Amino acid sequence: MSAVDTPAIQLARTPKSRLSQVDFDNLQFGQILSDHMLVAEYADGQWKEVSIVPYGDISISPSTSALHYGQSIFEGIKAYKFADGTVSIFRPDKNHERFNKSAVRLNMPEVPEEIFMGGLKALINLDRDWVPATPGASLYIRPFMFGTEAALGVHPSLSYKFIIITGPVGAYYNKPLRLKVETQFTRAAEGGVGFSKNAGNYALSLYPTRLAQEEGFDQLMWTDAQEHKYIEEAGTANLMFRVGDTIITPSGDTILHGVTRRSIVEVARHWGYQAEERKVSVKELIDGIKDGTVTEAFAAGTAATLTPITEIGYEGEIYTLPDPASREFSNKILQYLNDMRYGRIADEFGWNFIVD
Ligand code: COI
Repeated sequence: MSAVDTPAIQLARTPKSRLSQVDFDNLQFGQILSDHMLVAEYADGQWKEVSIVPYGDISISPSTSALHYGQSIFEGIKAYKFADGTVSIFRPDKNHERFNKSAVRLNMPEVPEEIFMGGLKALINLDRDWVPATPGASLYIRPFMFGTEAALGVHPSLSYKFIIITGPVGAYYNKPLRLKVETQFTRAAEGGVGFSKNAGNYALSLYPTRLAQEEGFDQLMWTDAQEHKYIEEAGTANLMFRVGDTIITPSGDTILHGVTRRSIVEVARHWGYQAEERKVSVKELIDGIKDGTVTEAFAAGTAATLTPITEIGYEGEIYTLPDPASREFSNKILQYLNDMRYGRIADEFGWNFIVD
């Protein structure tokens, strides 16, 4: 992948790094943030200052529009450290593309390549010692943007902040998942914002997810808004299944178009598997689990990486999938993608964005 020029970025280094306080052997997701953050300001119809400053609180007005009307979008990306110390970000160009699609749908300004990709590169380069070298760990990168205009009228904000924060993480899920098929609440409807990575999609999931967690599930398997018959996504990750030598995954604009999901589809096809992005009904899944044709099910996402699903709850019944250890495709592709991300094998697809 070609390098991107770094824009003129003002730099204010932290006077005191917090790196020595980090226990890299016990990383919780999203608990530790690196020394610096990138902040870009948009006003008067254009992007203005871009700066890298010490990570810290920001001050906003109580009438900041994003707090009231929800113009707030984000991304999730990961950087990895190779054994020789090289730092590589996995397919950030895809996240940039998706970020701008979310921006358009939420009537927000797009973030140009020089700021998104150039800013990412400059920030990760500065905080490269924060990219963990411990097995299975990575640097999680969270770019986000929100409307900052102090105004209570309902209209698109006239000003925005684009910020990138990062932090070392381990696994988001550290055990296989029990999912409940959600047939009462809805995550997204046709014509809505299901494909965009906006904060509201996560806010609306919290209550139904809590109810499912009280029943002993980890997460939901969302279904379509009209009939609750078709599987959508898990809210924190996309869903994928193996039937024979075919990998199937729900499609459409009511789900987030995950970069991990896309990568798995592309590698599966390259390896000669069929990979179908299409409607997947709950009935097809449950029948397939019952008759043994669905042999693998997993959640795929940047934070989730590839997490096996072992149990699915639907209409009061629990359906159990085969032991994760026996899952040939899931284990093979997780190993392959990890080997690629950590630079242990050739980057056949050109997905590693090297930070140098
Ligand atoms: C990601 O996978 O990066 C996400 O944004 C999902 C969220 C649950 C952390």
